[in-house]
Amino acid sequence: MVVSSTSAQGVSWLLASGPIAAENQVLRWIADLAAMPEDAGGCFVSGGSAANLSALVTARETARVQRGRGAHQRTRIALSDQAHSSIANTLRIIGVEPLLVPTSGDRLTGQRLRATLTADPDSDDVIAVVAIAGTTNAGIIDDLDGIAGVAQEFGLWLHVDGAYGGAGLLAPSVRDRYRGIEHADSLVIDPHKWLFAPLDCAALLYRDPAKAKAAHAQHASYLDVLETDSQTAWNPADYAHHLSRRTRGLPLWFSLAIHGTQAYIDAIEHALTLARQTAELIRCTSQLELIREPELTAVLFRRRGWSARDYHTWSQRLLASQIGYVAPTGWQGETVARFAFLHPHTTLDDVRDIIATT
Ligand SMILES: Cc1ncc(COP(=O)(O)O)c(C=O)c1O
Repeated sequence: MVVSSTSAQGVSWLLASGPIAAENQVLRWIADLAAMPEDAGGCFVSGGSAANLSALVTARETARVQRGRGAHQRTRIALSDQAHSSIANTLRIIGVEPLLVPTSGDRLTGQRLRATLTADPDSDDVIAVVAIAGTTNAGIIDDLDGIAGVAQEFGLWLHVDGAYGGAGLLAPSVRDRYRGIEHADSLVIDPHKWLFAPLDCAALLYRDPAKAKAAHAQHASYLDVLETDSQTAWNPADYAHHLSRRTRGLPLWFSLAIHGTQAYIDAIEHALTLARQTAELIRCTSQLELIREPELTAVLFRRRGWSARDYHTWSQRLLASQIGYVAPTGWQGETVARFAFLHPHTTLDDVRDIIATT
């Protein structure tokens, strides 16, 4: 594939094949990382929020067709309280209610999902489940395999939000934590997060792109006339809630062609190693307390004796002094500190400098 060939070969291929082919090549690369089927496909959108919206619109429309559900029938989607805020926003926009599934150790599991569905007398109106491959706050990967099994059992659409954590699929040290991701009906990974692409780049993939096309393709006399000569051409506008779009996947294609995929693997493993080393450093620092072992690259910690105000003052002081930016976050009702490592040039010495200020 061109993304692993020399840059000169890649550019000639790009000139001959065009930017949509290049975007599709990157989407295929991501689909392969997730072990999605050969005919999986999708498009790039502006961000994880837009991708979650388009994916769940597809889930809702598919359920309407497959289950013969009317537009005004109550419809619900299962999720945990760890889902990103864009999921709640999406449900509000598309008129779908949440079915909140309690987590186990802050993780959504197949067991908890099954128990919630079984106990719910109206579970017939649940059409999909959202699993997270790397929660925003703590980098927790849901029990994807278990959830996939229950989704199949109850006929639910499985949406996997890997906007932040999906890039970890590249890293051999954590790849097995994603087992089950290959069953996703839709998958989101944001290259503008942990795949180092410029902002405005989210990859949205569907197991069966025809379902997304049925939900999203726009038809009008002034559009359909353009399709007549190229009925079989792949039009990325058909797979999300957009029409005009720029080729958001192209910067990533270029970067992959220039740097090669190994550079990405190395950069991702670097951040994972740094998160583990940081956890160890926190454990050895008497005034600090590690909140949970990092699964990916988010590291939550507590400074003993600090109030919420102390965390905010410290964070602002760190930023003003240009040592680093470590924003506080909330964890189970408490304000705590959170490292979120992505940049491959962040070092353990940088972390030591920050910890020395606590
Ligand atoms: C898991 C998850 N989903 C969705 C989003 C939203 O992504 P975006 O800001 O690109 O819309 C984020 C952002 O942090 C995220 O972490």
